Amino acid sequence: MKQLKDWFVPWLSTAREYNTGILDKAWAKPDYGRLMLNENPLPPSEKVIRAVTDILSKGNRYPDSMLRLRTRLGKLHNQGPDNIGLCNGSSEIIDCMMRIFLQPGDEFIISTPTFELFPPRAELAGGKVVSVPLRKEDLQYDVDGMLKAITPKTKLMLVINPNNPTGIFIDDKDLIRFCETGIPLCIDEAYLDYHPEIPSKDFLLRKYPQVFLSHTFSKAYGFAGIRFGYVVGTEEMVKAFNAMFLPWNVSLMAMAAAEAILDNPEEVAAKVKHNNRWMEIFTKELVQVGLKPFPAHGNYMLIDATMTGKTTAEILAAGMEMERIFLKSIKTIHGRDGYFRVPPGVDEENERFVRFVRNYFGKK
Ligand SMILES: Cc1ncc(COP(=O)(O)O)c(C=O)c1O
Repeated sequence: MKQLKDWFVPWLSTAREYNTGILDKAWAKPDYGRLMLNENPLPPSEKVIRAVTDILSKGNRYPDSMLRLRTRLGKLHNQGPDNIGLCNGSSEIIDCMMRIFLQPGDEFIISTPTFELFPPRAELAGGKVVSVPLRKEDLQYDVDGMLKAITPKTKLMLVINPNNPTGIFIDDKDLIRFCETGIPLCIDEAYLDYHPEIPSKDFLLRKYPQVFLSHTFSKAYGFAGIRFGYVVGTEEMVKAFNAMFLPWNVSLMAMAAAEAILDNPEEVAAKVKHNNRWMEIFTKELVQVGLKPFPAHGNYMLIDATMTGKTTAEILAAGMEMERIFLKSIKTIHGRDGYFRVPPGVDEENERFVRFVRNYFGKK
């Protein structure tokens, strides 16, 4: 008789895993600093909480497609409501884009390292991930390398702007080279809200209908646990996403929270200010002890500590032991071990991180 696993589609067992084990550890140890994920450390305002609790009394009703919210989000991108598809966090865009564009064996081009959810979701659709390492000299996108990797099987490409984990922006001229290929391109703008002075790439949608943008409220808006995101694209593109998203994928509570925070831009501005202030302090402290932080523009900072001779695993273990902080492990880049990543937490967590940097890296 066949075993259960023999009934599964073959790519279920070969796809990489996205490991969320660190979340279980962090929730189980609430006294440890949560500096291992790109979360927003500041909780939702009373206005958001009130909007969510108010709508709960209608929790017996299915949500509609929320024209009012789509219209509002569309205006942020000079688009109409039908150019916006709402979703349960942008991870849903990541999942659905694979199922929209990839048939088994088709190729998805990414740059590595990247947000680690992308490869498993492509592989779970039977797709093949083609990884092109960041440029060695500046950890920027290797645009030539990515373009050279295109084959007749390439059906989807990804640019995260600013990139994760480096936090670096891509130049428009490089981005346009990807657009000019005509191959579907996801521009993930998850962290763009930390720099409102930098415009979204929504202007590209007019000329390049195969391009779409991925947005989330998990970062600057602080909704990682509430779950809300949206895709921006042509009406045809958004229709495809809506066909692939489940109906009622966004709860009434998430929609109410989203409207409440859009009514209260000062809340986002305060969260962004907290983040950017600590990013500056971290940069100064890290440089002072001889480490190399990348000029990051999100809510996280990639740090090159390879020159210290310490491995990433040693650095993470020392952080836990000395200051009870979880840090984010980054795999070797170009064969070099000793990179790690940190996001600003609340003030007290950040003070612990600064102390760790001074005591662990600063003392010879
Ligand atoms: C580049 C990027 N895109 C998307 C996400 C997913 O965010 P969410 O599903 O919470 O919107 C993340 C999360 O860290 C990310 O780093």
